[in-house]
Amino acid sequence: MRDGLSIPQFGLGVYDMSAKQTYAAVRTALSAGYKHVDTAEWYYNEADVGRALNDHLKETGADRSDYFVTSKLMRNRSYAAALADLRASLERAKLDYFDLYLLHSPIGGPAVRSEVWRALVDAKAEGLVRSIGVSNFGVRHLDEITTELPAVNQVDLHPWMRHEDIVAACEARGILLEAWAPLARGLKFDDPALVRIAKKHGRDKAQVLLRWGLQHGFIVIPKSVSPARIASNAEVFDFVLDDEDMQALDGLDEYLVTDWDVVDVE
Ligand SMILES: NC(=O)c1ccc[n+]([C@@H]2O[C@H](COP(=O)([O-])OP(=O)(O)OC[C@H]3O[C@@H](n4cnc5c(N)ncnc54)[C@H](OP(=O)(O)O)[C@@H]3O)[C@@H](O)[C@H]2O)c1
Repeated sequence: MRDGLSIPQFGLGVYDMSAKQTYAAVRTALSAGYKHVDTAEWYYNEADVGRALNDHLKETGADRSDYFVTSKLMRNRSYAAALADLRASLERAKLDYFDLYLLHSPIGGPAVRSEVWRALVDAKAEGLVRSIGVSNFGVRHLDEITTELPAVNQVDLHPWMRHEDIVAACEARGILLEAWAPLARGLKFDDPALVRIAKKHGRDKAQVLLRWGLQHGFIVIPKSVSPARIASNAEVFDFVLDDEDMQALDGLDEYLVTDWDVVDVE
């Protein structure tokens, strides 16, 4: 919780899904009890996320305020462009507000970063977004922010990419950490330590990785288009990894980049 931000610690990521897959996955997830969806201008599926949520609300009578939608600004260009891009995202999604809006990356240099961050602060004051944050910000980028602090920093976080310096800097400032690629994109499902711990608990490997993130206090947003995996990924609140499991997973860090790595850009 930061500045009144109450963010569900578990959500659905929708990167790399077609329009059709996005609509179906979000409908499945919301019906299965997910409350939180993570999209972005860059994923080109804000419209499908918004349509799925609005259809869900219409059919169930549920309240918009019970759900949490994040989107992200693709390009850091200028104050005016940031506000225009945010408004365009809201229009595409047919939503009155996003619960959380992030700078997708620090790319653009210090002057532009400062300008677009100011745009987000103003967008929040205007009610276009409830909370604001950043993504892929390294320690140097966090150090630059002297006005309102981001509520979250969304970075790649899994046992093979622990970003300990960024995690420590965020924790010291009270910035929540959101883990993208919490399943390491499935690239490490053969890791012997992960296989052993999954077997020990009688759980699947994805569930063990999600527990690792949750037990570190991270917000996790696994992506899946499979209804069975959307359901099983959410079944992570009825078991606990012990200290030995956590230490074994913590020891796997190898700076594995699963997608992009911009935490050190100027
Ligand atoms: N801010 C950023 O720069 C950034 C970058 C990347 C991602 N993200 C966000 O983080 C979310 C999650 O990250 P991600 O999509 O990169 O990777 P991820 O969630 O770590 O992994 C997704 C992959 O794992 C598979 N999978 C899902 N559940 C599984 C299970 N139970 N067993 C086996 N395989 C499973 C998925 O395939 P199926 O779909 O076939 O199940 C997909 O191939 C994204 O969707 C996006 O919202 C943000």
